[in-house]
Amino acid sequence: MTRPAPDGAASRVSAGRLAGDLDALGRIGRDDDGAVNRVCFTPAEEEAHGLVAGWMEDLGLDVSRDGFGNTVGTRPGRGGSGRAIAIGSHVDSVPRGGNYDGAVGVVGAIEAARALAEEGRVLVHDLRVVCFSAEEGARFGAPCLGSKAALGLLGPDDAQRLEDGRGVTLAEALEARGSSVEALGVADWVEGLDAFVELHIEQGRVLEDARQPIGVVDWIAGNRRLRMTLRGQTDHSGATPMPIRRDALVAAAAVVGDVDRLARRTRGLVGTVGEFTVHPNALTAVPGKVELSVDVRSADVVVQEETIEAVMEAAARHCAARGVDLEVDDVSSVAPVMLPSWLRRSLTDVARRFTPRPRVMTSGAGHDAAIMARRVPAGMVFIPCRGGVSHSPEEWASTDQIALGTQVLTAGVVELDGMLAGAGGRP
Ligand code: GLV
Ligand code: MN
Ligand code: MN
Repeated sequence: MTRPAPDGAASRVSAGRLAGDLDALGRIGRDDDGAVNRVCFTPAEEEAHGLVAGWMEDLGLDVSRDGFGNTVGTRPGRGGSGRAIAIGSHVDSVPRGGNYDGAVGVVGAIEAARALAEEGRVLVHDLRVVCFSAEEGARFGAPCLGSKAALGLLGPDDAQRLEDGRGVTLAEALEARGSSVEALGVADWVEGLDAFVELHIEQGRVLEDARQPIGVVDWIAGNRRLRMTLRGQTDHSGATPMPIRRDALVAAAAVVGDVDRLARRTRGLVGTVGEFTVHPNALTAVPGKVELSVDVRSADVVVQEETIEAVMEAAARHCAARGVDLEVDDVSSVAPVMLPSWLRRSLTDVARRFTPRPRVMTSGAGHDAAIMARRVPAGMVFIPCRGGVSHSPEEWASTDQIALGTQVLTAGVVELDGMLAGAGGRP
């Protein structure tokens, strides 16, 4: 069945501009083999924020950076009441990641603002285009630091507590960037928000396998993250008899196996050990220390908590059996979030103008939208990515799919503006 061409601002969305912007962003932090390194608080992340701020200025948006370092561009509406709709995502990446996770939602939001401007449409609401900092939890363990900070959910204590693999605290990283930990608090741009919508690649294979080009998210899975340090005894690998060894790596290997086994027990739950460091990591030494991370995620908070408890019990058992000391840091705990059904319905109805079967689906990955949803009605639009691959240099989505997602985002914002303006900010 052929769908009618989109009308209104969505018809102004340009696939060429989206591809050009994504390409420009993808040059920042790119390795020779195409991997993208824009880890939070690095010069590459800063450069990406600078590029996005430049696009916002070119569009005539009123650009600012909040106390944490999120970049926000505002296009004033005609309502004059300070009510606003925000759209956007993040530009930081995991180490050796791709150029689509987060970046698609940022260039899509910029393009939506451009399309509205080209059509000469002024919304009732202010439109805020948001480029979050530090969404990825890869560096400090805890995810979505920019959105948490904007909502006042990240305080100076958290900034002192969270540290990266090299012992740099979040507070130190913030200060090096010129932000003050004491200045953390609810950001001005959050005031008056009636809705937040994030466009993102799915990062899984559901849409691709079902040949559905658009997803609308109902639930966003939660996560519980630990960092474990296992301390045994470094010894000579030739001179130390097996019965007296305190080998931290043997205990750690058993923990890795149990994370996988416990996660496989429960449908829909996932468990990963993604970081693993062995000390001294020498061929002729019994490993005396191992550091590892545990990431358990589910849309069901009860099974998420039960699994993390079981992982901690198993780790204690394996360590005790080997004479290894165990230290566990609870790095992050995010509950699963249900996005408001009225906003999901509205986005799904809009998506049906572009595709006959948008898919309502759960997000296994975490997103700033899950944090924003604690204070603001939030929605998410997904597009497929090739093979479902993400957090990898192989990550890829087609320009056509990105353009379609951006059209849904643009038309979705227009719809929400009309719906919420007439209802005093309530659906
Ligand atoms: C964010 O990309 C996550 O790890 O869920
Ligand atoms: Mn992301
Ligand atoms: Mn990510």
